This record gives sequence, structure tokens and C-alpha cells, in this order.
Amino acid sequence: MIYIAPSLLAADFANLQTDVKRIADAGANYLHLDVMDGAFVPNISFGAPVIAALRPYSKLIFDVHLMINDPLRYIDDFVKAGADIITIHLESCSNVSQTLRYIRAKEVRCALAISPATPVEKIIPYLSEIDMALIMTVVPGFGRQSLIPETLEKVKTVRRYADSQNLKLDIEVDGGLKPENVHLATEAGANIIVAGSAVFGSKRPRSVIEAMRETAANHPYRQ
Ligand code: DX5
Ligand code: ZN
Repeated sequence: MIYIAPSLLAADFANLQTDVKRIADAGANYLHLDVMDGAFVPNISFGAPVIAALRPYSKLIFDVHLMINDPLRYIDDFVKAGADIITIHLESCSNVSQTLRYIRAKEVRCALAISPATPVEKIIPYLSEIDMALIMTVVPGFGRQSLIPETLEKVKTVRRYADSQNLKLDIEVDGGLKPENVHLATEAGANIIVAGSAVFGSKRPRSVIEAMRETAANHPYRQ
């Protein structure tokens, strides 16, 4: 099963409640929430209060992508805000395992992300400790960038390793995904697709989500 996770970063910030309902009605599975602190990445987006405000209005799986330094300091806030999945960046903290354990103890799904410059070997030791690996397909910080094709090799490596160890692992890809290239990600082994501008930016989000899901289903990962 392929899950589509539209990123709120591309929503109309003056009408978040309406926009979230619009993509839920269009068939989205997850709501991807990009939290940026202006330090780990150059941009500042939104934080836990915005997520908490949206929570009562949506049944979507809240997929919180923390692009912040020392995320351990803020895990409680995002759990309270209603996160279902919390992703931290491997590059953002020195105590990766401790932070993952902390997230897991809160009974939310825990995930680890790597940026395009980080070698895939760095995430391998953590795969047994996480529910989802997030392979960034653009440099984190901004929406509307083009997918970096070389990052898909990392998806393949992680999927092969997870299979070889019988790990039940979700692999999410994030950045530059659209109906025209989603097949490259699913063939590589990704099963959760973040799409910001492609979905929120469209007047017909249902057609975009359906096109992505159909293309992805026709191009599954094969060992
Ligand atoms: C980038 C974010 C992405 C981004 C995706 O730092 O993590 O989630 O919003 O946006 P698109 O799909 O427009 O590339
Ligand atoms: Zn993201």
C-alpha cells in the first residue's frame, strides 16, 4: 500500500483548516508537517501550537518532520500537539538513539531522516530502532525544489537492507515528488510519498493524489 502525505508547507497559511479538509476529502492518508527552526535549516515554518490547533479538525495521520536542532527538547510538545509520527534528523542531534527511544516511549511512531549530503551507511545502524526511515530527496528547508535522483539509490539500499533483516520498515521520500516521478521512488522501495506543492498547489488535488497512487501501484518495489 502506498500512502500519500501532502505537506502543509504548501498550504494556504491563511486558511489552514479549510485547506487540510480539502486534501483529506481528496484522499490523502497523512498530513506531513514540516517544522523548521531557522537554525538546522535556514527557514522558519511553524511549531507545535499550529499542529495542536489543527488536530481537532482532522483524522489524518499527523506526520511531524522535525527540522530542528536538539529535537529531544521538544518531543513532549509535539506529542501533546497530537503527532502520530515524529521524525528527527540524524544530523540534528548527538543523542540519536536516546531521542528515538524517548519518542517510542511516548507511543508515537518514531522515524529518522537523512539529508541528501548524509551517506546512507549512517542510517543503517538505526533501522531496527525505527518505524520509518525518511530519505530526503531534496535539501531540507524549502518546498518546490526538484528531486535529486541520486537520493533514490539510498532508498534502494535501505529497502534491501530492511528486507534482508526482515524489518517491517516504512520508507518515506520527501521533496520534489509529483505524478511524473513518483514511480522512481516506489520502484526503489518507498511506500510513503510526501508531496507539498504537487497536491496543495493543485486546484484538483484528488486527481493528483489518484494519479500518484495509480502510478505508484503500477511501479512497485521488486526485490
Ligand atoms: C522540505 C520539506 C518538504 C517539502 C516538500 O524541507 O521537508 O516536506 O515541503 O515540498 P515539495 O513537495 O513542494 O517539494
Ligand atoms: Zn518534510
